[in-house]
Order: sequence, then C-alpha cells, then structure tokens
Amino acid sequence: MTPTTWTPETWRQLKAAQQPVYHDPVALEAALAELAELPPLVVAEEVDHLQTLLAEAAAGKRFLLQGGDCAEAFADCRGGLIQDKLRVLLQMSVLITHGGRTGVVHLGRIAGQYAKPRSGNTEVVDGREVPVYRGDLINSLDPNQREADPARLLQAYHRSAVTLNHLRALVDGGFADLHHPEHWDLPWSREDAGHYLETLDQVRASLDFVQRLGGLPENLRTGELFTSHEALHLPFETALTRWVPEKEAFYNLGAHFLWIGERTRQLDGAHLEYIRGLANPIGLKVGASMQPGDLKTVLAKLDPQRQPGRLTLITRFGAGKAEAVLPGLIAAARAEGHPVLWSSDPMHGNGTQTPSGLKTRAFGDILQELQEVAEIHRRLGSRLGAVHFELTGEPVTECTGGVEGLEEADLWRAYRSGCDPRLNRSQSLEMAFLLAKVIREG
Ligand code: PEP
Ligand code: CO
Repeated sequence: MTPTTWTPETWRQLKAAQQPVYHDPVALEAALAELAELPPLVVAEEVDHLQTLLAEAAAGKRFLLQGGDCAEAFADCRGGLIQDKLRVLLQMSVLITHGGRTGVVHLGRIAGQYAKPRSGNTEVVDGREVPVYRGDLINSLDPNQREADPARLLQAYHRSAVTLNHLRALVDGGFADLHHPEHWDLPWSREDAGHYLETLDQVRASLDFVQRLGGLPENLRTGELFTSHEALHLPFETALTRWVPEKEAFYNLGAHFLWIGERTRQLDGAHLEYIRGLANPIGLKVGASMQPGDLKTVLAKLDPQRQPGRLTLITRFGAGKAEAVLPGLIAAARAEGHPVLWSSDPMHGNGTQTPSGLKTRAFGDILQELQEVAEIHRRLGSRLGAVHFELTGEPVTECTGGVEGLEEADLWRAYRSGCDPRLNRSQSLEMAFLLAKVIREG
C-alpha cells in the first residue's frame, strides 16, 4: 500500500529491491548521518531550471541528450577523463543541433552514477563464488573486496562533488565553447570520416558563421550541463534529500535528475515510493514487460499533477521489440493526459555476450532500436524527445561496429567498463550524426 503522506522515509515501509546488506549497521548509520549534514551538490533553482527545459523537450522545442558511463568508477575521477566525457557530449550536441535543427539539453550520467542493480547476489570469479559487484558506492570490482563498505558512501559523495566541481569549472572557463578547434579533433582520419566529412565541414562553417555574427548562442557557448544517476541505494539517496524552505518541497540535491531502473520499478515497491515525493524531474526505465494498465498506475503515482517536464519515460526494449509494446504505452499515457517526455535507451535491451564471456552490444542493433522507436512515435503522432546512451570519451573497445569496424575479436584490446559496454568516442559521434538524421525526419 502506498502511504498517503509522503516523507523521505516512507519508502522504508515497503520492500526495496537491490539493496546491499551491510555487516556493520553502526558504521552505516554514522556514514549516513555524516552525509545528511554535508552541503548539497546542486541547488533547487538549477533543478527547477532543468525541469523547465525538459518541459520544452516534451513539447518538441528541444532535445534531451542523456549519457555517460554505465557505472562510474572511483578510479576514473580524473580531470582528463571528465573532460573527455564532457567533450564527447558537447560534440554530440553540436551534431544534433546542426543536423536535427533543435537545441539540446545536456544531462550526464555523471557525478554520482556509482550504484548498479545486478541479476544475482553472487558470481563466480576464477572458479570462486563471491558477492556480486554492485558499483563503487557499495563494494569493489576487485573480487577480494566485495563486502559492502559504508565508508564508500562518503567517498562517492566526495568524488561526485569534485567531478561536479570540475565540470562546472570547465563550463565556466569556456571549455564548452564548441567553436574551439581542438574540440573538433575527430578520432577519424579524413578518409575514415567518409560521408560524415561533408557534414562536419558544414558544421564548422556554420559555427564560423555564427561566430562572425557576434558569437554563439548562450546555450552552445556555456554548454549548460546537468547531472543524473539511478536512484538505487535508498538510504544514500535519502541522506541527500533535503527540505528546501523557499520552495516548500523536498529535493534530492545529490543530482539534478534521478531515475528508477527497470529492476526496481515494482508498483508497490520502495523505489517508486521514494521518488514520487521529490520535486526533481525524474525518469523511469520502461522495458518490454511494462503493461499499459500498469503504466497508468505509475503515471498517477509519479506525476499526479501532470506537470510538463516532471517525468521522462526511458524505453529500453531491444532491436525489433518496440513495435509489440510501445504503441500501447503511448496510447496509455495519452489516454491519461500525461505530458511525458519520451526517451529511448537503445543500449539496455541490446546486450549480448561473446563466447569468451565479455558483455557487448552491436552498434547496428542500437541504431536499429533508435530508428524503430522514433518511427513508432512519428507514426502515432507522438515524439521521441530524448535519448539515453552509455558512452565514454575514451577510445575503449566495448561495443562492436561503427566506423572503426570493431569486431568481437577486438574487444579485449581496451575493455574497461566494470559493468555494461559503452559506445566509445568515435561510435558516440557517429551515433549523433545518425540520430540527427532521425530527428530531422521526425
Ligand atoms: C542502467 O541504466 O545502467 C541500467 C541498469 O538500466 P536498466 O534499469 O534499464 O536495466
Ligand atoms: Co548499464
């Protein structure tokens, strides 16, 4: 039963999936108490501003680009890597703006994406059964350090803070000025860039033109960036939830945007209960098992006021699977009059495993799902206004396909993800080119 009066703690009355078990509850409580006293990472005005932008995206006036690691790693909290991630997001944004003729809202899976839902509690590593890795917020990828450790909650907070600090400095310091030529050092040679070269030259020419007219529009020059992560670890998220007196509302001030994943969206579960009371814009992952009737229940719970920009539905079906499910979901949202922002996560329904056990995804499958979903929205008079990718600015080899023609046999070369496979920089940029075309046709 959904409690009638919400507080940041009412979720405790319900069953919470995917929560780690701590063997030192005293240390856990101490860590949470310390977290609750630390300053917020973002402020309510920024959060509200994002909601306004998302409302515009839902109305077809902007496009939301959400992307970043599947799981951020503590060890990757480094200037160069953060900069690379920001750069790839902003480059994608320019390609989408130019080719799709729409302004872009940038939302990183960054500065807090440290907790992962897993399919089992244990796994076998080198013939030994160990607790599964649940993200750096909880334990270590090192199979010898899989005990859930409360000290990691504070470490995650501090790494989120320095990551966000660096992002803010980069943006304020002009890094996001996309006109800067070094931001266009593409990972491809002129030959490899093939049929993209012409578009790139056009993008450069139009940036030059805008510059001569008196500078880039504010949204490109400052490249505003918002942060997001999955609201998975509920005690941690609760500690970052604050009452904001001026707004008379509770905000999660650990990120601008929070989402609930496919594995924790039980209708009567603790995660929906927790997130329904936040004033932040929120997301919900929606897989093929979502029934239209259940979606109506979810919409009534998460967005009873039908506020534009409040709720982003992030569908993730797998290539070839959207047709059977999405039309019914679009009809359900429409019947209830909910102004949802429809997003496509074409990554999470397209996972496969190589014979040697590496998780991968094929560029072609990802693109196919994106095209299919956009086409269904278009056909039904709805609109795909957002995408959600797992990507990195690094030259990793985790997904197959793309301009570089990565094959399964290449993946061992630079496979770095501790969780799901990400598009590398080259694949991300290529996806942005192709996405721009999909948007333009919509
Ligand atoms: C994720 O976004 O990393 C994830 C686990 O997705 P989903 O909830 O869609 O499976
Ligand atoms: Co993932």
